[in-house]
Amino acid sequence: MNRNLLEKGFIPQEICTHIPNGFEDVEEISSSLHKILANNQISSVVNEIDQEKDISSLSASQLERAMLLYSYIGHAYMWGKEDIDDIIPKNIAITWYKISEKLQRPPILSYASYALNNWSLLDESKPLTVENIKILQNFLSGVDEDWFIMIHVAIEHEAKNILGSLKKYFLDEDTEKGNLEDALVSIKEINKIMNRMPEKCDPYIYYNRVRPYIFGWKNNPATPQGVIYEGVEEYKGKPQLFRGETGAQSSIVPALDALLGVTHSNDPLREYLDEMRLYMPKDHRELLNNLDEWSEKNRNNLDIHKDSVMIINDLIDEVHAFRDKHLEYARVYIFEQSLTNNSNSNIVGTGGTPFMKYLDKHLQETVPKND
Ligand code: HEM
Repeated sequence: MNRNLLEKGFIPQEICTHIPNGFEDVEEISSSLHKILANNQISSVVNEIDQEKDISSLSASQLERAMLLYSYIGHAYMWGKEDIDDIIPKNIAITWYKISEKLQRPPILSYASYALNNWSLLDESKPLTVENIKILQNFLSGVDEDWFIMIHVAIEHEAKNILGSLKKYFLDEDTEKGNLEDALVSIKEINKIMNRMPEKCDPYIYYNRVRPYIFGWKNNPATPQGVIYEGVEEYKGKPQLFRGETGAQSSIVPALDALLGVTHSNDPLREYLDEMRLYMPKDHRELLNNLDEWSEKNRNNLDIHKDSVMIINDLIDEVHAFRDKHLEYARVYIFEQSLTNNSNSNIVGTGGTPFMKYLDKHLQETVPKND
């Protein structure tokens, strides 16, 4: 198991903000994507993109940058035209596919591009706080879109403290109570950041201007058969069905569930969350699978942690508080918005699940152990 990932956190060590050579056209389009979308020019600019790019010499961080650029342009093309069609032109499809093969996740916008690799520090001399995060790439741009992503990035950054402390306690078996106390401080900090979402991300703007661009093409009424990636020989001209971007592709909550022994009985959201792992960076996905195995073996081993059951339960209560706030956001930012607007469906999330019922079920399952 790659335990060190828990201490480092899921944000990469190095984020590329610009690919120096060979990607000038996509870099330029991405930098003015909001204007291109406002002027209805996405089809014409995509058709000008140089079809086949050499990705062989890209470093790991440049490859992530390339994935981000193609994912944003691809989604702008899919959802930013007046008429939705179901073919992604070869000008982007071929290179997007090649990058995705190398990264071992599908050619679609995923959380790793939308949040984990999509920021830098505004002031490099200062620590990471919500206000010191600069988002690199947007669709329409604006404070609500930035803030929505900034909150995710700040949570990911803080999460390395709780995950690192829980790793020491449970995996390294350094059963110092201080490790659990540190973890508790960290999850409380995560919840403080989570509570700040409404400060600058307005539900109406989120629902109407941010969310429409992050949908996928699986279980989406706009693309019932999926989407063809033109010129990608490996797909043999067949439409592909991929899920959209969602916080459910973050590894934090599944890692916490596994470490704290929170389980969910089978339901469509659980199946969907398992599927979401395919959209995560490969090392995150492998870590979660290893943690699940560990959890399965150790879950009933509470005897060795008897003295700490109370504080472990406090931690579970905080994960419950996170899920409770999250459910409130799903209601206020999506469900209630959908009641006043027919333009995008209330029934399914960006990933395509009937979310209200099952987010609530997962909240109810986040319960302390008997002490
Ligand atoms: C306005 C804010 C947010 C809204 C409206 C929202 C909406 C949703 C929806 C509808 C789902 C259901 C599954 C899907 O459709 O993909 C979901 C799942 C999820 N989201 Fe969010 N989300 C928000 C913020 C966040 C943040 C900041 C995080 C932090 C990383 C996050 C993490 C998750 C996780 C982990 C799941 C899986 C559910 C679980 O395990 O309980 N979300 N979200």
